[in-house]
Amino acid sequence: MNKKEVLKKIMEKKEFSELPIEDVEMALFLCFNKDLSEKGQIKYTREVLHRVYGAFGSRKLLVSKERNPEWILKKHLSTRERLPYYKEIYSRLLKNQKQVTIIDLGAGVNGFSLGFISGIRYVGIEGIGQLVNLMNDYFKKQKLNAKAIHLSLFQFEKIKNLIKKEKGKKIVFLFKVLDSLEILDRNYSKKLIIEISSLVDEIVVSFATRSMVKRKKFFANRKWIIDFIKENFKIIDDFELGGERYTVFEK
Ligand SMILES: C[S@@+](CC[C@H](N)C(=O)[O-])C[C@H]1O[C@@H](n2cnc3c(N)ncnc32)[C@H](O)[C@@H]1O
Repeated sequence: MNKKEVLKKIMEKKEFSELPIEDVEMALFLCFNKDLSEKGQIKYTREVLHRVYGAFGSRKLLVSKERNPEWILKKHLSTRERLPYYKEIYSRLLKNQKQVTIIDLGAGVNGFSLGFISGIRYVGIEGIGQLVNLMNDYFKKQKLNAKAIHLSLFQFEKIKNLIKKEKGKKIVFLFKVLDSLEILDRNYSKKLIIEISSLVDEIVVSFATRSMVKRKKFFANRKWIIDFIKENFKIIDDFELGGERYTVFEK
């Protein structure tokens, strides 16, 4: 098989079928220095993609016609854990401001939480095409001032252009997404944050402080990113709620 056929084979699986091709290529590239057969490459690449993309959402999100926000939020690990705390989180992050655009990078299904805030503009960027469609359907039906865009977070020039197009105050969410980026490209998170920081007013980075699956407190090493934020930005707020730590900073 040539590379194009290998990529096609990898993407035959439903959960990988609507991923940005650049990310699938990056995952495939990671196995080139391993001595793997073609079958092994396909298996390894799928494992990497599963860690980056597939581990959080139920398969039901990819096929269901259900559009009830609470049902959807419960079917994704990140939003399920956050569900009881959304009101408090948004009131702390947004302080009841209305003239703000949220730019949600690696949004998952977080757009379904817009019922917890009103009057806000929301732009979600997400690599899984099915989740993008799900959110856009919902936004349209609810007539929300919101849109989801199917794009890889590695396409930072495109992301910068999208951010530039938005007017007024802008706040970027990077909720539980940096670990995924680091799997495909070590230190990309820092590059992305630096690149977008001059275009927005605030950035919020979040991490799980409890294992998402076992509910146990765990101590993943976040020092690298917290030190980087402290060295390069001004921290405005830093708090933990519902097993998630939120760090808010500005340039
Ligand atoms: C752990 S989930 C968090 C979702 C959401 N931010 C939240 O906290 O509710 C990570 C999300 O980032 C998306 N993602 C990971 N890597 C991405 C990439 N390179 N481009 C676009 N989206 C990506 C995944 O598809 C997934 O929906």
